Amino acid sequence: MSKYKIAWMPGDGVGIEVMDATKLVLDAMKFDASYHPADIGWEYWVNEGNPLPDRTIEVLKNTDCGLFGAITSKPREEAQAELIPELKDKGLVYFSPIVKLRQMFNLHTNLRPCKAYPGNPLNYREDIDLVVFRENTEGSYGGVEWYPLPEKVYDALCDNPKMIKWKDKGLENVALSTRIMSEQGCESICRQSFEYAKKHGRKSVTLVEKPNVLRETGGLMTRVFRNVAKDYSGIEAWEANIDAICMWLIKNPQDYDVLVAENMFGDIVSDLCAGLVGGLGFASAANIGDNYAVFEPTHGSAPKYHGKNVVNPMAMLLTAKLMLDWLGEAEDAARLEKGISTVIAEGKVGTYDVKGRGKGESTMEVAEEVARKVTSAEACAT
Ligand code: IPM
Ligand code: MG
Repeated sequence: MSKYKIAWMPGDGVGIEVMDATKLVLDAMKFDASYHPADIGWEYWVNEGNPLPDRTIEVLKNTDCGLFGAITSKPREEAQAELIPELKDKGLVYFSPIVKLRQMFNLHTNLRPCKAYPGNPLNYREDIDLVVFRENTEGSYGGVEWYPLPEKVYDALCDNPKMIKWKDKGLENVALSTRIMSEQGCESICRQSFEYAKKHGRKSVTLVEKPNVLRETGGLMTRVFRNVAKDYSGIEAWEANIDAICMWLIKNPQDYDVLVAENMFGDIVSDLCAGLVGGLGFASAANIGDNYAVFEPTHGSAPKYHGKNVVNPMAMLLTAKLMLDWLGEAEDAARLEKGISTVIAEGKVGTYDVKGRGKGESTMEVAEEVARKVTSAEACAT
């Protein structure tokens, strides 16, 4: 029997290609795992009215963790229009399966490292090494929202005199999305960011918030952050507003180290950080819970590139590295990262995003080159 059971969720579009590329490298490393295919994504929405079928949940429950490629999602009307005729008019509503998975398995922590690997021509600077801790189940992602605003929700909020102007606009014209945060959620993400900083010898943790406007949720997060920071005297605790940090990260990204944020701000700032180190082709992510984790690259399914075998597999390979770390396979994780960084540093083999449009090697050729590096005598010795 294999040491690990991995739920295998390629999803849609280029998700399939980057997962194939990753399998090639994991196999080359002789990573001891069995892979359990699990259906997720657009095809299952179109044909079954559910992008995350129950059988997929069962596969996840019977595995150690999941590896996920990418999914396609479309606006409400388009999603409806693509359903097979038997499923139309059944009141089915499309939802993001990855957001649902995060909620369902309580994958409360989203870890997104953004490191400039030397030699990557897309690096903004070579001395960037950021790690974003994004709270992954609360905030604006809880799905508590309305349009139009029901009378009873309006009534419940009516103690607040500021609500009157919304009634005047006509409740049928008003939409409401909530940002709900708990002390426990804030505490968990802040503590994990400091623990990570301590373990990896990082010098600072920066809270990304907006407590001057979002006074209650932002205020709660800030208080919790300050309290947690007291337990880590060797680590500097900085605070920045989301807007300001977007500017500071462009100006002086090398000054920052670990960032911690609630869900939506973490979503925003992690794309910015990815942009500093080569874009989505290099951005990996881990959705981590207490007993389960799902690893996914930050990029989407890029339908226009599907089947062309051209997209950069590095994000997915770096994602596999996060999985190896989480499984406790530190040596394999380091070997894979070394393989990836060597291929980047040599610059001989790379996809079009790195080498320029119309140039570059295929997804599989890049994976093959990484596989060669991870199996070379030198890599095995490290
Ligand atoms: C991400 C993505 C998702 C998110 C989308 C696809 C729902 O942007 O993982 O960062 O907003 O969390
Ligand atoms: Mg995002």
